[in-house]
This record gives sequence, structure tokens and C-alpha cells, in this order.
Amino acid sequence: MTRPPRSGPEVDPGFPALKARIIARTGHHYYADKDDLLFDRLRKRFRALGVADSTAYAACLDDRLTGGPEWAALEAEITISETFFFRYAEQFAALRSTILPALLAARAAERTLRVWSAGCSTGAEPYSIAILLHELLGSALPEWRVSILGTDISTAALETARAGIYGRWALRTLPPGERLRYFVPGPAVAGPGRDGTYALRPEFRRMVRFERRNLMDLLDVRAAPPMAEFDLILCRNVLIYFETEIVLGIVRGLGRRLTREGWLLIGHAEPNPAIAAMLEPVNLPGTVAYRPRGAVPTVVSPAPWVPAPMPDPEPSPGPAFAPAIAVPVPAEVGPSGAGIPIEPEADGTPGDLERIRLLADAGETAEAWRAVRGAIQAAPTDPVLHYYEGLLAHSLGREAEAERAWRGALYLDRAFVMAHYQLGLLMIGLGRRSDAARALDNAIRLAQALAPDAVVAEGDGLGPHELARSAALARAGVTGEGP
Ligand SMILES: C[S@@+](CC[C@H](N)C(=O)[O-])C[C@H]1O[C@@H](n2cnc3c(N)ncnc32)[C@H](O)[C@@H]1O
Repeated sequence: MTRPPRSGPEVDPGFPALKARIIARTGHHYYADKDDLLFDRLRKRFRALGVADSTAYAACLDDRLTGGPEWAALEAEITISETFFFRYAEQFAALRSTILPALLAARAAERTLRVWSAGCSTGAEPYSIAILLHELLGSALPEWRVSILGTDISTAALETARAGIYGRWALRTLPPGERLRYFVPGPAVAGPGRDGTYALRPEFRRMVRFERRNLMDLLDVRAAPPMAEFDLILCRNVLIYFETEIVLGIVRGLGRRLTREGWLLIGHAEPNPAIAAMLEPVNLPGTVAYRPRGAVPTVVSPAPWVPAPMPDPEPSPGPAFAPAIAVPVPAEVGPSGAGIPIEPEADGTPGDLERIRLLADAGETAEAWRAVRGAIQAAPTDPVLHYYEGLLAHSLGREAEAERAWRGALYLDRAFVMAHYQLGLLMIGLGRRSDAARALDNAIRLAQALAPDAVVAEGDGLGPHELARSAALARAGVTGEGP
């Protein structure tokens, strides 16, 4: 039997040069010490083009005809597109109560507002801003010229963004009432894991336009001096992939594009003391925003946000499942420790959970679900795996299995705040109000018992305060009582 030829970064002489080109073009320093991971992604492109190694592949990238489309395919392959609606509730609370009201006041005379979501992935971020502005401006919206631009290096992500159609995975933190307000049922796409889509309502979709742009272009010193054109820039969860020098160059470039009254938001994990030397940090509850130095100070009294009442859920016949693990929701539980949301693992090994999330983010929900089931077989007492099993089952429209999985996670860790929260949202969707209220009460109590600066385990960056607030809002929709 002949053995397949060995392939890998260590036996591919053209790999170091190709890797250097990729990092220089995309800024993804993240791959500097992750040869295996990068090679894994490259291998898919080698296979697609039928080439044997990095040298042959580099020639395709240089080809006048195939080079452009191949760079686009490669960029889509190596970028991490994780995103979801209203990611980091504290930043959205700050946008709703402070930043956008301040901007609307500052722009009241000319009634124009320009927003840039830089590194917007599949569009959840700029569309969340569109929804917010739609709600804040209300009937005055037609009198304003609001422009929201979403840009990304990945043309594949932009294609999804333009379509505005999402699986439940991208909507996983939205209570059912908000899903109904912002989306209509989308086309059922053939194939496992792609049914039950949500289409963003056209009134939000038409507020955003998308363009391919590489953030590395902000470093181009030969370019014409930038125009201060944006009132608000979001560049979140992109800078983590770049090295410090590039981060600072990009932030400097973004800062130059802000108007005098402008605001910049970066991701939770991305602040750097050197950024504060370029732009003025402004502390807002649970987050930091940046403004141009000497920006016109704006005092806005935070207006409390009142959610629209939630439509009554469809009546449901009640639970039609037999839980694999019979788990009563505990009446009194104590808080569990905080965890770190999944971003790329530091050691570069795509661990089970990272792989599962990457698959889900890429829309391969059924494949991700199979992967999580496999991982559970190997580690049946890991509550986090059961939690993701629940999220994926829910994305696939398998509500009974989602319930069983989340109850399983809670059986293993009674203080798993996010499992209580998701279970509560699921119960709302199923019309099981008292189960919903019980699960959400548990989520609220546990979240309130965590340290204010803790990161909620598996909360995708949620802080305890914002989670308690989201759970209270969802619960208010169940009972009709105020949060
Ligand atoms: C993890 S997603 C973050 C999406 C969104 N901002 C959020 O926080 O939910 C990172 C996005 O940055 C994009 N990206 C990475 N490098 C980029 C570059 N050099 N220029 C523009 N976009 C880039 C990726 O394609 C990906 O869609």
C-alpha cells in the first residue's frame, strides 16, 4: 500500500512566504504562531484549485485572471465571522441611551447621520444599529438622511449580509418578542440545518449598504488625507486578530474619519492604553467609548428604554418530550464562576468547542450539531457541551431536544446562568409561561449574585447586569409586569 504524501506546513517550502503575504495583506497576525491552523484552511483552497502546495497556490494568487477571486475565497476561508444581533448588550444600552441620542441632538439642524460598521461580517452589527435608529427616530426617520455602511474584507460574509437572512444561531440572544419585531419567516433553504430562517424586515434592511473594504488600507500613508465623515464607527472584535502596531495604526485611521462630535466603539477585549493617547476615552456604564480629543462634550440624560409589548406566543400543547435526564429546575441556586467567551484559542488548536462554533457561524448548523453530539459522547458530564447542544438543537428547530439539552446542562451545573436564560426564552416561544418565568427568575437571581465586572460563562461577552436586564425584560413580557 502506498502511503499518501506527507503534507503540512513543515514540509511545504513555499509556506513561510505565503503565510507572510497573507498576514501582510489581511493583518491577521493571529496566524503568526498557528501554522497548522492556517495550513488547514489553505488546504481547502489547494483542493478547490487542484494544486499541490503553497508555491503552486501562490502562483494562482498572482495570476491576473484568477488572482482577485482567489484572494476573495482565501480571505473568506481564513477570517472568523462570528457575530450576532445586539452583541454586547452594554454597548447597545450605551448606544441607545447616550451615544445615539447625543448624535441625534448634535445633528438635529442638518438631519444627517453617518455610521460605519468596520468589519461587519454577515451584517448583524450594522443591522442592529439600523433597528436602534429606526426605534429612536420613529416617525421622524423619513426626515433624516441616515447612512449606515457595513464593510468587511470577506466578500462571502458581505453576500450573506446583503441577503439579510439568518438562522437562529445569529439570533440566539434575542428574546422571541424581538425576533418577531425585527424579522419575518425567511425562505426554508433545502438541506439539513438550514430550515427555519429569519429574514430581516425590509425597513431595516434598506437602511444599510455594504462594501468590501480592507481595514489595512487605513494604514496607507500615500492615500489622500481622510475626510472626517462618520458620526459613529464600530470596529468590534476585529482588532484582536492584529498586532499592536497595526491596531494603533487602524485606530488612528478610524479616529481621523470621525466627525468632531463622533464616537468610536471597539470590542470588549480590545482596549489598549495607547488608544487613550490618541482618542478620548469616555466611561459609560459597562463599557468604554472613544471620541476625538477636544470633541464637543454632550450631556444627555439617559432615557430608559421601554420595550414594545411582546405579542402573545402561540398556545402550545405543553411538553411533548421525555427528558433523557430528569432535571427539576432548582428553586434556589448559587452563582457559578465566570468564563471567557469563545474567541480563538490561545494555543491555536481548534478545540471541540471552537470547531463547533466555527461550523455554526459558517451556517453548518447540522454539522455543528453532529460535532457537539460526538463531543458529548467523549465528555458526557461537560455542562458547556450540553449547553451548545441546546443552542444548536434550537437553531435546527428541535425544541424538545433543546429543552432536554439545557435541562441536562442544568442538571450538571445548577448555576449555569445562560442555560437558565436560554431555557426561559425557549419556554416563552413554546407558550409555557410559568416554566419561562421560573427559568428567567433563576437567570436573574444568579446574574445578580455575580460580581458586576464578571463575564457570564458562555454569555458571548454579556455582563451580569445586562443579562439580568435582558432576562427581566423577557420575563416582563411573560407576566405583563414591568422589569
Ligand atoms: C469576529 S467578526 C466581528 C463582526 C462584528 N464586528 C461583531 O463584533 O459582531 C470579524 C470580522 O472582521 C473581518 N475582518 C478581518 N480582517 C479584516 C480586514 N483586514 N479588513 C476588513 N475586515 C476584516 C472578518 O472578515 C470578520 O467578518
